[in-house]
Amino acid sequence: MSDKVRTAVFVSGGGTNLQALIDARGSVIKSCELSLVLSSNPGAFALKRAEAAGIDTAVVSRRDCSSQAEFEERISAELASRGIEMIILAGFMSILSADFTAKWPLRIINVHPSLIPSFCGKGFYGLRVHEAALAYGVKVTGATVHYVNEIPDGGRIILQKAVEILDGDTPEVLQKRVMEQAEWILLPEAAEIAAGRIRNGD
Ligand code: GAR
Repeated sequence: MSDKVRTAVFVSGGGTNLQALIDARGSVIKSCELSLVLSSNPGAFALKRAEAAGIDTAVVSRRDCSSQAEFEERISAELASRGIEMIILAGFMSILSADFTAKWPLRIINVHPSLIPSFCGKGFYGLRVHEAALAYGVKVTGATVHYVNEIPDGGRIILQKAVEILDGDTPEVLQKRVMEQAEWILLPEAAEIAAGRIRNGD
């Protein structure tokens, strides 16, 4: 068995952060093997990106499950059958319970499109984060990659990067700048850091 950390990437949508991870294989990412892409949405374009990159995929939709416990049991079964050791949330829009996150201490990382602790927590996801930053009038935003614990967006920060807000920005324009200048760079770097810590027995 390879000594790389067997990693699952959880997605729900377009998967541009997944693509950044795929493209970083062999350069920034040396310690992780992208072994599974798990989507909460059967129509996610991220699944196509995974297939094109030759990565195994699974779909577990919350709507198909009668309870949160069943949703997480199904996810856990997909992870267990592939020997997954680390999870990267890359635009995963379903909630994971404290029961689930407690089973993966310092083994789940998440990318969030703001400088935590601003514009984060319950209800702040995707474009909403950028809408809130523009509505507040901040001049600098950015992205954060952090460990996931039972507090939404509350786990220990791994990496952060600031991005300027410019006059005339729309949420869509800002989202793209934050992705290009921060998320797609930080996420592979943070994945490598987190996997390195696992291999060092941290
Ligand atoms: C990204 O901007 C990611 O940071 C955000 O959703 C987008 C997914 O895009 N995640 C959150 O808001 C989590 N709270 P992608 O599917 O193209 O990677």
